[in-house]
Amino acid sequence: MTQDELKALVGRAALEHVIPGAIVGVGTGSTVNHFIDALATMKVPVAGAVSSSRASTERLVARGIRVLEAGEVERLPVYVDGADEIDPRGHMIKGGGAALTREKIVADLAERFVCIADASKRVEVLGRFPLPVEVIAMALPQVTRRFARLGGEAVQRAGVLTDNGHPLLDVRGLAITDPLALETEINQWPGVVTVGIFARHRAQICLLGTAEGVLTLRY
Ligand code: 5RP
Repeated sequence: MTQDELKALVGRAALEHVIPGAIVGVGTGSTVNHFIDALATMKVPVAGAVSSSRASTERLVARGIRVLEAGEVERLPVYVDGADEIDPRGHMIKGGGAALTREKIVADLAERFVCIADASKRVEVLGRFPLPVEVIAMALPQVTRRFARLGGEAVQRAGVLTDNGHPLLDVRGLAITDPLALETEINQWPGVVTVGIFARHRAQICLLGTAEGVLTLRY
């Protein structure tokens, strides 16, 4: 199977975790696009979705799914999103699609994070995928220097601003052995909007697309 077929497989499999008639949190990316397409086929549809990006909102609306603002709900039973990497405890790197801030906001409303990913995303230690960090523009040089002190090389993502209008850094060279500690540390740096480590908001379930089918990992 191709990587995209694996993404489609887990996108469909995620429907099992969606409660018909409820509101669902929806992430961003090519795997989630398959999930949105599957959502539109539910016999008893969801009542609506809270979306983590303009791109997902457009796709949801195009498929007739009502989109609510995050502020309109107090909690969500489930949030479904992809990942750039996921480790053996459900910690993730996210933000390859530049939607990390809104993804973390919507994930924070959810009782359960269901990660959908093809098998290439599973790693022992986070950090081979460059860590995305959304930053207020004036702080880019000093945040870049802070990463250098940790052994990371931070480079601004060319031509990209997030849905919130901020630039992104991609940081190479970090071996993230303690994701929760590093997320907590980077969150303290002035100018950092969101770091793409999802440790506090880790996955409870990962549906992993493999050549043998969907593997369900629980954390
Ligand atoms: C977007 C994300 C995505 O979930 C992540 O980049 C995975 O994307 P894809 O499903 O296209 O492989 O974090 O900000």
